Amino acid sequence: MPEACDPLARLRAAAAAREAAGLGRALRPRQPGPDPLTDLASNDYLGLAKHPLVIEGAVTAAGSWGTGATGSRLVTGSTALHDVLERSLADYLDAEAALVFSSGYLANLASITALAAALGQPPQAGPAGTPGQPRRDGTLVLSDEYNHASLVDACRLARARVEIVSHQDPVAVAHALACRQEPAAIVVTESAFSVGGHLAPLAELHRISRAHGALLVVDEAHALGVVGDGGRGAAWQAGIATAPDVIRTVSLSKALGAQGGAVLGASEVIGTLVNTGRGFIFDTALAPPAAGAALAALQLLAADPDMARQARDNARRLGATAERFGLAVTPAEAAVVRIVLGDPGLAVAAQRICAGHGVRAGCFRPPSVPREQSCLRLTARASLSEADFMAAARALAAVRDHVRTAAAVGRN
Ligand SMILES: Cc1ncc(COP(=O)(O)O)c(C=O)c1O
Repeated sequence: MPEACDPLARLRAAAAAREAAGLGRALRPRQPGPDPLTDLASNDYLGLAKHPLVIEGAVTAAGSWGTGATGSRLVTGSTALHDVLERSLADYLDAEAALVFSSGYLANLASITALAAALGQPPQAGPAGTPGQPRRDGTLVLSDEYNHASLVDACRLARARVEIVSHQDPVAVAHALACRQEPAAIVVTESAFSVGGHLAPLAELHRISRAHGALLVVDEAHALGVVGDGGRGAAWQAGIATAPDVIRTVSLSKALGAQGGAVLGASEVIGTLVNTGRGFIFDTALAPPAAGAALAALQLLAADPDMARQARDNARRLGATAERFGLAVTPAEAAVVRIVLGDPGLAVAAQRICAGHGVRAGCFRPPSVPREQSCLRLTARASLSEADFMAAARALAAVRDHVRTAAAVGRN
């Protein structure tokens, strides 16, 4: 077979080009038991993933309901565990109703595609009482340019016109909503941005969305458990949690240390997802151990709401340390600290340097972020110790030295 037609040869060529651009990725082994590194890379913001009560929640759920959900809840039935988790999430987060998914990714995919289709339908039912066909020109979806890949993919799958709006730009959102031809619109944003850790202007976005009859979908993956009183999230903090035109998505896989996702909103929204959300209907339900773990974690958060503040304080302290070393830090409003290095190679080197100093750090580069925003991403946990902070300071000092040396070499 000629080399140009050989599919594996093409994959090898693409991999070589990725490596040459400093964009290769590889899986690194992870050991069981106590973590030998100071973990500043995971999204386990409250340190609950290995909490004994969370583990017990998973084990008890597996004992009662099995290790897997065995099918979609519409086919094999809805367990009391799923119902209790949904009621508990809705109560804690001041929502009318909640629906859990097997991942936060799917919660985003299902909610945006289903809502765009449902809103885009003509008001009258089709022949013989069947729903009208969704129309591509029925709904406009506005998505912040820095939204997470799961939101990007949801927009791509939505049968609707999608416009990407510049980052945190309520004026651009208002303009696009005012100029639209479509009768319906959805505005989509993260609340605490996953890479930068900064908050979206939610109150303003909601005011604009409401003024133009649009729904606001807010992804709280990195805000749940961290932002707002008791970690109730950024929408709650902005005073829009109970608004009927606000829909929140959350991940159970980050601050709650479990696995899964949920959508919170009005009962009409949840009913729409149960009936038309493909990521709900055609996916095996959230696994019982994950549901049990998430429920136990939520109970721990409710019992100790100060954990959320502790995670935020620790993030600010990490950010202040990086700033002291002259690194470019985005002010931490959640538990994420972004140190912009501006070059993928530099970001990878910084991550390696941190590992050499006993610190696990995240490294973001294209396609996760634009090239010039390649960065080191540190995440704080509520349970960070003084030893962890000291390790972080040593690692960041070494990163600073490396950045200086690289700049000096670049100048010469
Ligand atoms: C902003 C955001 N939304 C959604 C998700 C997906 O959540 P999950 O990991 O539970 O699938 C992530 C995960 O990284 C995320 O960062």
